[in-house]
Amino acid sequence: MGLCKVLFICLGNICRSPTAEAVFKKIVEDRGFKDRIYIDSCGTGAWHVGNLPDSRAIAAAEKRGYSLDGHRARQLELDDYANFDYMIAMDRQNLLDINAKMPATCNGSIVLFTSFVRDSQVIDVPDPYYGSAGGFDEVINIVEKASAGLLEAILNAK
Ligand code: 4NP
Repeated sequence: MGLCKVLFICLGNICRSPTAEAVFKKIVEDRGFKDRIYIDSCGTGAWHVGNLPDSRAIAAAEKRGYSLDGHRARQLELDDYANFDYMIAMDRQNLLDINAKMPATCNGSIVLFTSFVRDSQVIDVPDPYYGSAGGFDEVINIVEKASAGLLEAILNAK
């Protein structure tokens, strides 16, 4: 299996996709696939470029044993379509925005994150930005399930 490159994408790249990046990184490391899977995250929007993750996302992740340390928000770039094998949208609006910006060269699969959860009760990883603190815990619950499914899908595809 060659290097598999995974990009998690939300709107701001300060809440959901950095959380997905941290959770998936930990699962991949714990399973011993750190050298085989490259993981990054970005946002479709530019408002928060250069910022650290939202402090509420950092706190919620820390409680569950995940570190969002050091990530700085960046916006989705055209080169990402050529570089990544999986471009994983947190919600249906992200999916629409990713598809709308797609250039001629696209080598990856553009998919909803919850598509990796069998019989998922949710379609979107809900945007927690304007909601209560509980929304950040819910994001982690969904992201943990979807990450497990994503790793199985990657391992089965190779
Ligand atoms: P994220 O959350 O897409 O999960 O990073 C958001 C962060 C910021 C905004 C919206 C969603 N915003 O409108 O600034």
